[in-house]
Amino acid sequence: MAPPSAEVDTANSPELRQHVKDTTKKTPSSSFPKPLKYSGSLDEYEHCDVTSVIGREFPKLQLSKILEDDAKIRDLAITVSQRGVVFFRKQDLTNQGLKVLAQKLGKLSGGPKEAGLYRHPLSNYKQNFAIDEDGAQDDEISLISSEQRRGWYKDKYGHTKVLASGGWHSDFTFEHNPTDYGVFKVVEAPEDVGGDTIWASAYEAYDRISPFFQKTADALTATHRNPNFHSQARNGGFELVQGPRGHPDNVVDKDADAYEVVHPLVRTNPVTGWKSLFTGVNSLRDGNINGVTERENEILKDYFKQLFVENHDLQVRNRWGKNDIAIWDDRSVVHVATNDYFGKRTAYRVSSVGEKPYFDPNSVSRREALNSL
Ligand SMILES: [Fe+2]
Repeated sequence: MAPPSAEVDTANSPELRQHVKDTTKKTPSSSFPKPLKYSGSLDEYEHCDVTSVIGREFPKLQLSKILEDDAKIRDLAITVSQRGVVFFRKQDLTNQGLKVLAQKLGKLSGGPKEAGLYRHPLSNYKQNFAIDEDGAQDDEISLISSEQRRGWYKDKYGHTKVLASGGWHSDFTFEHNPTDYGVFKVVEAPEDVGGDTIWASAYEAYDRISPFFQKTADALTATHRNPNFHSQARNGGFELVQGPRGHPDNVVDKDADAYEVVHPLVRTNPVTGWKSLFTGVNSLRDGNINGVTERENEILKDYFKQLFVENHDLQVRNRWGKNDIAIWDDRSVVHVATNDYFGKRTAYRVSSVGEKPYFDPNSVSRREALNSL
């Protein structure tokens, strides 16, 4: 651990320092994508915003009915990126349909050509975590099962004494190319009650910071680190997924003792052009903010976490029914599960892999874009 000195840069290796320099290098603004425009093709379907900041629900639309309509799926991607998370009820989309949907959401909204669907390092078919509804093994589908998770995280389920706020995260920020769209279908909701998921807006978290400090945050980078997969695999006798995880740059470094990458602290969402605070809350727990002292790193991480966790007016909570689907934009929201139930809960998640996170100095905050300062 580095001493709390003003001279200490917590970017702790020459390679990492070089990476920080590369990441923060000025790039001509013309090289950044332009925000996409919503065409209005989904207006015909009944919908409502769940809060003023985050969340929209289409209570009657069947996603299977629009899956082949690229204009509507593109508009859906834009809607998800603007609203953070979108909800659909009683869906008949199969797991293979979830894959088609996730891939189209990424591609039709300008995602990288070379990217595919995410393959989780540990939640792969060899551990029976990736399996479709017909029992077929598929590393691009993650089974999220309460029965499995109760085995791993005994202290986090039921009558827990662990702080639930420790679960806030953004998916897979330890990757060079993290995911853009997450598609999540609950096929078995708890028969008792509970098991809600909560999302929080990283656009709005950025807008809660003062203009003075926004400028500082704009210039910072953070090192995201996941030190657990190698040890979990070793201790549990698991095998990590082989080959790229949804993008050629997302590969296992066998010599590394952690999955580690440097991202901008403020990230521009290419679909909306809006800035979001890209900490992933607890996704940065084992990482650090670069170029600051160790004490400043602690203070900043606590402050950024507080923005998400203690502002319930930038959150939206979803109660799941059987076959409900949520789609969210991992670039601009964080989420947390609620482990307050005793029944069974089974879900499938498919995620598409997005661009390398970047900061466009000409991008604006959500409030600026909507003129609601
Ligand atoms: Fe997650």
